[in-house]
Amino acid sequence: MLMRKNCSMTPVTAEEVRSWPYVKLLAMLGESNLPPGGLDTVRRLILDCHLGSDVSVLHAGCNAGFLSREIARRSGCNIIGIDISADMVEAARRRMVVEELDDILSYECQDMRSMSFVDNSFDVVLSGGALAFVDGHTRAIQEWVRVTRPYGLLADAEFYYHTQPPKSLLQKVSEVIEVEVPCYPRSYWFKVFEHELLQPYCVFDAEAGARSTTEIKEYCQRMADYAATDWTDSAKEVLIERLVDIFHVFNENMKYLSYSILVFRRVNTGDEPSLYT
Ligand SMILES: C[S@@+](CC[C@H](N)C(=O)[O-])C[C@H]1O[C@@H](n2cnc3c(N)ncnc32)[C@H](O)[C@@H]1O
Repeated sequence: MLMRKNCSMTPVTAEEVRSWPYVKLLAMLGESNLPPGGLDTVRRLILDCHLGSDVSVLHAGCNAGFLSREIARRSGCNIIGIDISADMVEAARRRMVVEELDDILSYECQDMRSMSFVDNSFDVVLSGGALAFVDGHTRAIQEWVRVTRPYGLLADAEFYYHTQPPKSLLQKVSEVIEVEVPCYPRSYWFKVFEHELLQPYCVFDAEAGARSTTEIKEYCQRMADYAATDWTDSAKEVLIERLVDIFHVFNENMKYLSYSILVFRRVNTGDEPSLYT
C-alpha cells in the first residue's frame, strides 16, 4: 500500500498536496534548510570561528540541524542547537542519531530571546540565517552576548537585498511563505549587532546567485523522487508542479539578494578601547 512518509497509513492525495501551505509541504518533504551560502558558509564559519574539539558552540535557530551536524562532523566541537519549534528539534535529534553525532551534539527547544543557559556558557554562538525569522532582533542579540564568554565569538550569515526588488515580487514571495518579507539592506544587520560588548572581527559578502530553469526543474524532480517515494503518482505530479512554481518565485528573488557572514568578538567590560580594530 502507498503510504504517507513517516506517519499515517493513508496515502497522500493530489488534493492534499495542492492545498498544503508551503511550510507544511516542506515539513512533509523534510527538506534541509541550509545557511545562506550553503556549504561554503559552513567552511567559513569553522575557519573564522576557529572551531575545534575544545570549543563549545551554540547554534541558535537550528531548524532541522543541517548546519550544526556539518560543523560537528568537520570540527569535532561540542554543539548545542536550539529552536523555538519542538518539531524542528525532534527532526534535528533524529538526524543527529542516524548520523552518529550524539556524542558531541544535542538539541533543545528554547527561545533564543530568553535562554535558560547561564552567562558565559559558550565560546561561540552562531546562526545560519535564523535571525531573519525571529521577532525581536535586539533582544536575541542581547541574549547571544550574555551566553558568550568574554573573548568568545558571535557569527551569523544573513541575506539582504543589494537591489530593491519589484513590489510585485515581494508580494509573491510573501504569498508563498505566508509571512511578510521585510526588505533588509546590508546595513540593517550591522545595526542589529551594535552592542557595547561587540567588536567587528571579520566580514564576508557574496551574491546569493540564481539557478537556471533547467536546474530548478531537475532539482524538483530529484526532491520528489527522494522524499515522496510512497506517494501516489498523481500526488507526486502535483508536488513537482508546486515545487517548480515555488522555486521559480524564490529564484527570481535570489537575483536581488546577497548575504553577509558577520563575525563579532565579545569583549569584556572595562577593556582597553581601540581605534583601529
Ligand atoms: C529558516 S530556519 C534557519 C536555519 C538556518 N538556515 C540554519 O542553517 O541553521 C529559521 C529557524 O529559526 C527558528 N526560530 C524562529 N524564531 C526563533 C526563536 N525566537 N528562537 C529560536 N528559534 C527560532 C525557526 O523555528 C526556524 O527553524
